[in-house]
Formats: sequence, C-alpha cells, structure tokens
Amino acid sequence: MVTPNEIKLFIESMKKVSTYDFSDYSEKSFTRRIEKILSDYKLTLPGLITKIQKESDFREKIVNDITVNTTELFRDPGVWQSIKYRLLPKIIDKDEINIWHAGCSTGQEIYSMAILLNEYGILERTNIFATDLNTEVINAAKTGKYVYRFNIEYLENFKQVVRQNPYNFDEYNDVPFEKYMKIDTQNDSIEMLPFLRNNVYFKRHDLVHENNVFYRKFDIILCRNVMIYFNTKLQNRLFSLFNDSLVKKGHLVLGLHETILGSEALKYIKYGNFYIKKSI
Ligand SMILES: C[S@@+](CC[C@H](N)C(=O)[O-])C[C@H]1O[C@@H](n2cnc3c(N)ncnc32)[C@H](O)[C@@H]1O
Repeated sequence: MVTPNEIKLFIESMKKVSTYDFSDYSEKSFTRRIEKILSDYKLTLPGLITKIQKESDFREKIVNDITVNTTELFRDPGVWQSIKYRLLPKIIDKDEINIWHAGCSTGQEIYSMAILLNEYGILERTNIFATDLNTEVINAAKTGKYVYRFNIEYLENFKQVVRQNPYNFDEYNDVPFEKYMKIDTQNDSIEMLPFLRNNVYFKRHDLVHENNVFYRKFDIILCRNVMIYFNTKLQNRLFSLFNDSLVKKGHLVLGLHETILGSEALKYIKYGNFYIKKSI
C-alpha cells in the first residue's frame, strides 16, 4: 500500500528532475499505477524515487509505465458511426481539414479516422496531428503494426462502422479489410497500410503544460479516454485549450462516458456524441 504522502513525494521528486507533473492526475488511478510499478520492478517507493532521480532512461520508462494505453480500432463503434454519418459530412467540402488526436496511444484511433476519411475521398486533404505523452506508444502508432490475436475482435468494429449504416439498413458497403490492412495470421500481425499515415504528424506532447503548438485551429479534436485519468482542474484547462484550438463550430470528441461540467460547458453545445464550439 502506497500512502497519499508517498504519492506526493514521488510527484515532487519527478517534478524536480524533469518536466513531468502528475499533480493533477486522478489520485486513485495514479496510486494504482505506482503500486503496479513497485511490484513489477520489485522496488520500494524510496528506491523508485532514487532511481528516477539518477537514471534518466529509467525515468522515461516509468513515465511510459504510468500511462494507461488501452485502445481499439473503431473503439465504441456507435461513436464512429456518428463521426461517419453526422460529423464528417459537415466538413467534406473544405479545402483543408485539420484533426488533432490528443492522447492517441498506439494509433488505432488515428487509423480508424484515416479509413473513414479515405472512404469519403478526403484523406489527402486532411492533416492529422497525433500526440501522446508516451514515446513508446507513439513509436508503435508510427509502425501501425499490431498483434493479430489482440485485435481480432476489433475487426467486428470495422464491419459495423465501415460496412453497415445504422441510419439506413438497406445500405451496405462491402469494403474488404485488405483495402486498409494486411492481416497475417501465421505471423500473428495486422499491419495498417502505410498510405493511411501519409498526412499524419506524430509528436510527443504533454497535455499537462503544453498548448496548441501546431500553428492552426482544428475542425475536430479527439481526446478520448484520456481525461478520466485527470482531476477536474486539469480537465478544465483542457476543455478551455481545446475550445481555443477549434475553428468556429469545430467538434470536440470525448470518450463515451466523458462529459464537460461546470463553466467550461458554457463554451460548447452538446450534440449527440460531440461537443461543438459555440460561436460567441
Ligand atoms: C487510454 S489511452 C486512450 C487512447 C485513445 N484516445 C482511445 O480512446 O482509444 C490514454 C492515452 O493518454 C495518454 N496520456 C496520459 N497523460 C497524458 C498527457 N499528460 N499528455 C498527453 N497524453 C497523455 C496516455 O499515454 C495514453 O496513451
């Protein structure tokens, strides 16, 4: 059992030797991550602190271990169906489209978006910015290569989102998996086809203290299942940052169970699964 004081000590020690600041992470899940790290590395908390102070590589490894990276291709298919039928049709006529995936993890979310953009014929006109704190997951996202047995059930999500139209059951688009991915069951791999990431810019970016460093405003910002690990103060900072970073009537997509509460909510109109920036 790690005590709240020990967690504070860890966070302060991390702040002294790096730019990482976990003060506004939700205490419960952060404590669970630290306990898991102590058990995995067979360390005591003082031992962990000494190591992160002395060894920069180990420190980076621990930062990567702290983050929770669960993701899926077309995670929560209902949300992707809304993106496909209610959101993208609003922007397909634009000359240039900009999308930011904040907290993209290993990239399945980026490839899901790229597939839908390609189905609309607008992938080449879109700049996708894919950011995360964790360098390991960004590198995995860049390869677009996943273990088949861990992703097999997500092919069902592809069928639901790419092939079926829940708003019109007569419509069925028989899009083969091979159009977007190479599935090699013998080598247990699924590899997303490289053209999907032609316009993707991958970048390490820390949502705790970095702002919109991309010199543009976005039509869509996705920050799904990231803020559940943050406290209200940090969540509000991000709702404000995202509002400033969206174009007029731009869309913010959060995780299925995430909502904007308090005064930040006044800056958005909730529309189905999305938050739309209010034009003031
Ligand atoms: C559970 S994953 C969500 C992945 C994807 N958005 C989805 O919904 O499937 C959360 C991601 O947030 C990232 N993250 C955590 N803290 C962050 C921070 N301060 N700045 C940027 N990304 C962060 C983690 O590294 C992790 O990849």
